[in-house]
Amino acid sequence: MTAEKRSHIESLKVVLGKTFRLYVQTHGYHWNVQGPQFLKLHELFGDQYANMWEALDDVAERLRALGVAAPGTVTELMSLADDPEEEMPISADDMVAKLIHSHTTLAECLRGAFQDAEDAVDDVTAGMLTDRLTWHEKTLWMLRSSSA
Ligand SMILES: [Fe+2]
Repeated sequence: MTAEKRSHIESLKVVLGKTFRLYVQTHGYHWNVQGPQFLKLHELFGDQYANMWEALDDVAERLRALGVAAPGTVTELMSLADDPEEEMPISADDMVAKLIHSHTTLAECLRGAFQDAEDAVDDVTAGMLTDRLTWHEKTLWMLRSSSA
């Protein structure tokens, strides 16, 4: 295995961990959001966690296609995310702010992982990461518009 390949596989594992963490965060907010914006945010968070649940499968199975094991325990995924869980926010505004922060962090991670995939001449992974980045940037627009 070349250095480039090892590097972009490790980056892909971090994408998986951070996506898992944000999936759990978003699903928890879907359950617990309260206030005048309840229905809108409950549905928005629902759409978001469903997207990330699907994405987890795509990223994990891409790792398998690259010939490595997919991290498959909560402990391993949260260790890869390298971002400890926080207490459940009380207010809907706090939830939106925290999601904006998490999506911004994950988008930065995706940009780095994309570059690593390009360096490894892995166009399939680079394409998948571009799709993920497109979705997270659209989600950031929606969250920022919700909090404006
Ligand atoms: Fe639900």
